[in-house]
Amino acid sequence: MTKVLYIIGSPNPAEYSSSRQVADFMIEELRRTQPDTVVTIRDLYQDPPFVLNADYLAALRKLQQQQELAPAEAAAFAEVIKEVDQFLAHDHYLIATPLWNFGVPPMLKAYIDNIVVPGKTFRYTATGPIGLMRDSGRKLVIVQASGGDFNEGPALTLNHGSRYLEDILKFIGIDQIDTIAITGTALPPFDGSKVQAAKAQGLRILQEIWPAELNVTVPAGGLGSSSPQVLEVVSTVTLN
Ligand SMILES: Cc1cc2nc3c(=O)[nH]c(=O)nc-3n(C[C@H](O)[C@H](O)[C@H](O)COP(=O)(O)O)c2cc1C
Repeated sequence: MTKVLYIIGSPNPAEYSSSRQVADFMIEELRRTQPDTVVTIRDLYQDPPFVLNADYLAALRKLQQQQELAPAEAAAFAEVIKEVDQFLAHDHYLIATPLWNFGVPPMLKAYIDNIVVPGKTFRYTATGPIGLMRDSGRKLVIVQASGGDFNEGPALTLNHGSRYLEDILKFIGIDQIDTIAITGTALPPFDGSKVQAAKAQGLRILQEIWPAELNVTVPAGGLGSSSPQVLEVVSTVTLN
C-alpha cells in the first residue's frame, strides 16, 4: 500500500490558496483513482511543528557525548524524532507552499529543521555528507504559488522558496523532485487559468512520473470538477 504525506505550508484556507487548490486536486485524484493509497495530511499551521531550541541542541550534544538528558532535552529530542519518523514512514510527498519574502513560510522552515536530522535522514562521512533517503524510490512534488513571476528573468535568483526546498530535500537523498510553479497570483488575469494550468501539470506528474501503481486517469468532468474545499482542514489525519 502506497503512503503519501501531504504537507500544507500555507496558512490560507484552500479557498484562498492557489498552492492548496492544486495540491488538494492532486490528492483528490489520487484518492479517486487509487483508493488504496493512504494519504496523511500534515497541516503545518493547524498543528505547528516544534521549533528547534537550546534543549534540542543540548540533547544532540549530550547524546554525542553519551551523557544523560534532562527531561526538557529528552522531550525536545522526542518531538523531532516523532516528526522525522512520520516523514520516513511515507513513500511519496506533496508540499503546498506560498513564496514568502523570497523564501518559505516559517512553519515550513521549522518542519524542514525537524526532518533533516543527523543519523535519520543524513549523515556525515569521511567524504562528505550523504542523504540516507537515497535509492529509496521516494518521489516528491512541490506546488509553489507566488504573487509575482519568480520563475524566469532577473527575479529567478530571488526564488529561495522552491529552490531551497529542492536543495535541502535532495541533500537528504530524495532525488526525484518535481516543482509546479503557480506564478503571478497577484497579477491579472484573475480567471483561474493559472491554477487550471497547474492542475493539468499536477495530473501529468501523477500519471507519468509517480509510480505505475498510481495510475491516475483524467476525471470525467475535466480538471475544473474538483472543489478546492473537498479536503477538510485538519491537523494530522490519515485518510484511506
Ligand atoms: C508574508 C507574505 C510574503 C510574500 N512574499 C512574496 C514574495 O516574496 N514574492 C512573491 O511573488 N509573492 C509573495 N507573496 C504573495 C504570495 O506568494 C501569493 O499570494 C501566493 O499566491 C500565496 O500562496 P497561496 O495562494 O497558496 O496561499 C507574499 C505574501 C505574503 C502574505
